Amino acid sequence: MTIQPTARLQRPPEERPLVHPDVDRDFIGRLVREFYGRVRRDERLGPIFAGVVQDNWEPHLEKMTDFWCSVILKDGSYSGRPVPAHLKLKQVREEDFDIWLDHFRSAADERCPPEVAKTFVDRAERIANSLRLAMFFRLERPGGGA
Ligand code: HEM
Repeated sequence: MTIQPTARLQRPPEERPLVHPDVDRDFIGRLVREFYGRVRRDERLGPIFAGVVQDNWEPHLEKMTDFWCSVILKDGSYSGRPVPAHLKLKQVREEDFDIWLDHFRSAADERCPPEVAKTFVDRAERIANSLRLAMFFRLERPGGGA
């Protein structure tokens, strides 16, 4: 049987911008601030962010607002590279992603109508999984050699 190139190259459908009367940049900025308020109070994640972001929270929050506007509204406002930014965070453990996602779900549930919270959380989970893979996935070598 010959495999048709179109069959091999099929991709999941493109994500579309979320269109909802409440959801604009101001709304996303408030959600981002709610989420990072939780993260900063967390005993495990708080010190990790404090060590990197230090006194520059406002620029970080604006960058994260750009990021979420790009992810949700597809407005192209973020142009950074999340993978290298996380690869250099040597103190982060794989389990920290569960804590991050718990705070994200709580912030989204508190601030968003349920269907909007679901879109944010679905996209956060998908991106968290690819970051987690980029940071922690290693193929086991038989015999455990380096
Ligand atoms: C345990 C989980 C995570 C930790 C501890 C963490 C920590 C951090 C820290 C400390 C920075 C600042 C890096 C810098 O300024 O050099 C950062 C940046 C960033 N994070 Fe995370 N992060 C986590 C998960 C995530 C997830 C799941 C997402 C997306 C859904 C995300 C998206 C971003 C983005 C977009 C940036 C900005 C990168 C750039 O353009 O400079 N992070 N993160």
